[in-house]
Parts: sequence; C-alpha cells; structure tokens
Amino acid sequence: MSNITRSAAGATGFVKNLAASAAGALSAGTSRHSTATASVHMSASGREKTLTKQSLPGRVLKTEYAVRGRVVTRSYEIQKMLAEKTKSLPFDELIFANIGNPQAVGATPLTFPRQVLACVMYPPLLEAGVFPEDVIKRAKEYLKYASGKVGAYSHSKGLEGLRQEVADWLEERDGHRPDAEHIFLQDGASPAVKLALDLLIGGPEDALLIPLPQYPLYSASITKLEGTAVGYYLDEEKNWGTSREELERALKEGRDQGKKVKALVVINPGNPTGGILSKQDMEEIVEFCEDNNLVLLADEVYQVNIYKEGAEFTSFRKVVMDKGSSVELFSFHSASKGIAGECGLRGGCVVTDNLDPEVLAEMYKLASVNLCANIIGQMAFTLTVRPPKAGEASYELYKKELGDALDSLKRRAKKVAATLNGLEGASCQEIEGAMYAFPSITIPKKAAEMAMENGMAPDLFYCLRLLEETGIVVVPGSGFGQRDGTFHFRTTILPQENQVDAIAKRMSEFHSKFMKEFS
Ligand SMILES: Cc1ncc(COP(=O)(O)O)c(C=O)c1O
Repeated sequence: MSNITRSAAGATGFVKNLAASAAGALSAGTSRHSTATASVHMSASGREKTLTKQSLPGRVLKTEYAVRGRVVTRSYEIQKMLAEKTKSLPFDELIFANIGNPQAVGATPLTFPRQVLACVMYPPLLEAGVFPEDVIKRAKEYLKYASGKVGAYSHSKGLEGLRQEVADWLEERDGHRPDAEHIFLQDGASPAVKLALDLLIGGPEDALLIPLPQYPLYSASITKLEGTAVGYYLDEEKNWGTSREELERALKEGRDQGKKVKALVVINPGNPTGGILSKQDMEEIVEFCEDNNLVLLADEVYQVNIYKEGAEFTSFRKVVMDKGSSVELFSFHSASKGIAGECGLRGGCVVTDNLDPEVLAEMYKLASVNLCANIIGQMAFTLTVRPPKAGEASYELYKKELGDALDSLKRRAKKVAATLNGLEGASCQEIEGAMYAFPSITIPKKAAEMAMENGMAPDLFYCLRLLEETGIVVVPGSGFGQRDGTFHFRTTILPQENQVDAIAKRMSEFHSKFMKEFS
C-alpha cells in the first residue's frame, strides 16, 4: 500500500507513514548494499563497527525530509551524468525547482546587507572609501555591538544591540514592542523551531497539530523528538485556508488517541501551498488556541513574499497582541527567504510572547548549550528587517533592487499558476505568497498501478518521470501530506524569468505525453 493511501488516517497516520516508508527505504537499502554493508561494518583492524545503520536510534531512521528526498537524490546522479557526459539525455541542464533556495537558481543578493557584512568581516574596508556612508555607519554600529570581534561568541540569545533592533522592527510591524530578552537570534528559522519543539515534546504522548500539507521540518523534527504530529487539513478549495471545524476534528483525533495536544503550528504565507491566511482564519486560530490551551507556533518566514493584489502581511503576533490574548506564542522569521534569500548565511529568529518566565529561562538554558548563533547570520537577519531608510545613501538602490525582485516574483507566480492550470487534469490555486505552487494532479489509474508495482507513491512516480524526461526537479506531494486519494507536487517559482517559458513548455509537453501514455 502506498504512503498516500495510508495517510487516510490523518496526521498521526501521516507520521506513521513516514516511519513505514523509512523502514521500506531501509530494507531496500539493505538488500541493495548487502555486500558493501558487510565490509563497511568492519574496521581496518577487523573489529566490528559500533555504529551501524542497524544500531542507530529508530527515531533517526524514521526521520524523513522530502525536500531533499528520492527525486533530489536521483537528480544528483543525473547531474553527474550530465557533467561527465556518460549518457545522452533529452536535456542538457537540470532545473532545480525543488527547494526555496533563491540564490542557487540565480537570485542576486541585496547590495546594502552584503556591503555591511563585508565591512564587519574585514574592518579595513571601513576606511577604503568604497562604500556609502550609511553602510559604514551601520557596520560600525554592528562592530560596536560585537565589541569589534565578529569571530567571538556572543550572548546565547544573540548580540543585545541586534536584538534591540529586532525589537524596534517588531514594534513598527505589530504596534507592540517585545522585550529584547524574549528574542532569540538563531542559525536560521529551523533551529529556532527545534528550540520551541524541545520545550513542547517529552515523548509520544505530547502532540502538536500541524497543517497538512506541511513543510517537513515539522514532521521530521517531531519524529526525531519521538513526539506525535496530528494533521489538520488545509482547505484547497479555499486557497488553502483553515476552518474551526477541521481544527476541532484534528484536536479530537489527538485527544481520542490519549495524546496531550499541546500546540498548533501554522505556516503563513504557506509552504508548500503558496496561500495566505485570511484575517478571519487567523483570528479563529488564535481563539481556538486560547479555548484549548494550545501554544501557537507561527512560522512566518515568507512574510515579505506577498504577491496577491492588495494583500498585506499581518503577523500572528499582531493578532494575539491586538486581542489582548494570553496565547503563548513563538513567531519565526528568517534571512533565508524574502528577497535577500540569504539561505547560506543561516540567520533567523524566534520571538516569544506570553511565556512563563521560568519557561523562558529554560529556553535560554537550551539556547546556551549551542553557545550562540553565528554572528554573520545574526547580522544578516537583522539587516533584512532593518533595511536603509528613506533619505539614507543606500535607500534608492535598495528600494529598486527589492521592488524589481518582488515584481519579477509576482510575474513568475502568475505564469507558473497559469501553466499548471493549463495541464490536463491539474488545478493550481492562486500563488498568493511564499515561493511555491502546490498543484493537484490527476494520475491515470495505469500510472498509479505501475507506481504501486514499483513500491512508490503515484506522485513520486510522476515526479521521477518528469525528472528523467525533462530535467525538472520538483517534490511529490506525498512528502508534505495531502488528502487521501489526491496527488500533488510542489514546485518553486524561483527559476529565473527568462527560463520560465521554456520550463513551462517542457512541463506541458511532458504532462500531455504522460497522460497519453497511461490513459
Ligand atoms: C516554512 C519554512 N519554515 C522554516 C524554513 C527554514 O528556514 P531557515 O533557512 O531559516 O532555516 C523554511 C525553509 O524553506 C520554510 O519553508
């Protein structure tokens, strides 16, 4: 039975699926590499290795991360073939549309943050007369925060001066200033999310409600902590919105299994959906958390990536604070997304509201175990939320770079959705924000049967065929969770604008051929 069919059981089922498919991968891997494994298990002295795949904790083997899963593994093999010209293929380059990694597919970093970072890394540049005065001023400020040493550890929550700037930004964004002690600068949003999960999960009895489809950081991290994920389905017809009814259903599912449901995760704008939650959905989510004593984890890393006409980003923090709600809230943001797309610099943040001071102290203790987030990442994150202001020397260039990139993403979002909606049996919601489309596709029965015979989910089969025939790398919907009997894939909208038409053509031709072959 496929993952998809099994996912009918909901999110707990979804996490079990991941376990089942990990076990499948394990047995497949064992038979494929049995000779190699025997020799790898022995050290040069003939001693048996202590650490073997079989000796690893089950939670490690069960952890799956679809975004870098089987399709991507195959794409690396194909990339090698292309480089070594070992086989003739129907394309001469791969199109990586599997991961939201903007600079890897041609996005250029913003000038202002890079100039500041160059100066803090190499202070003689401050005197070189090559950078505008606001860059020099900012770099000097940041160096002062770091006592002149970006190579030294900082406070475990991050440099205090930077946290004050993040607090300034949050005050402007939400109309409510947080205490800088409630802000933790981290090596990206991923470790920030894991820090929050560490506080929530003690074992399988502790459950979190996660959206389905979800970004697999959540299912993977919950599995690794041996907690339980219970999915609430987003409503595709409502452009991936939520409903109180579905939240109640998921909560009941968790409680009926004897779980202690402690928190709800929300990703807005959505990955993989590309949807933006309405204000009404957001209010309902906060009320639902309040009524059921749930901690709210708001993943808002795509808050700058808004494409829908007339839409503006509203944070969950603003909704919680404006209501005067006591919901315990973790809000996440990152330097990886937006326009800067500084994924490799690893800068992100979590801000907490309404936490018990003793919990905050424990969180600080856990953050201290990692000493501190990398200083360049801390600065890169702060620079994304504190860009140059009107009247400053770098402002016009910054505004142009940001505006041009955002306009281009808006055009790409429209084009990608139109292409996907033009495919037979496919339907794609408007890409309102984030960096992705998550179209539903119809997989012909014959193709689904062939997929099953090969031990894979039908949408994985589709995505592998797409890769082999066109070089386009996307991620099957089964890795994110989807309603039973539906199939999707996730594609980014990030390939450069001058490539989009060619990609659309390749994809449309492939799809028609696939549908014809299996109908
Ligand atoms: C919804 C969501 N949250 C968190 C992350 C992780 O971001 P970071 O690079 O800051 O760890 C991603 C990355 O794609 C994401 O899509």
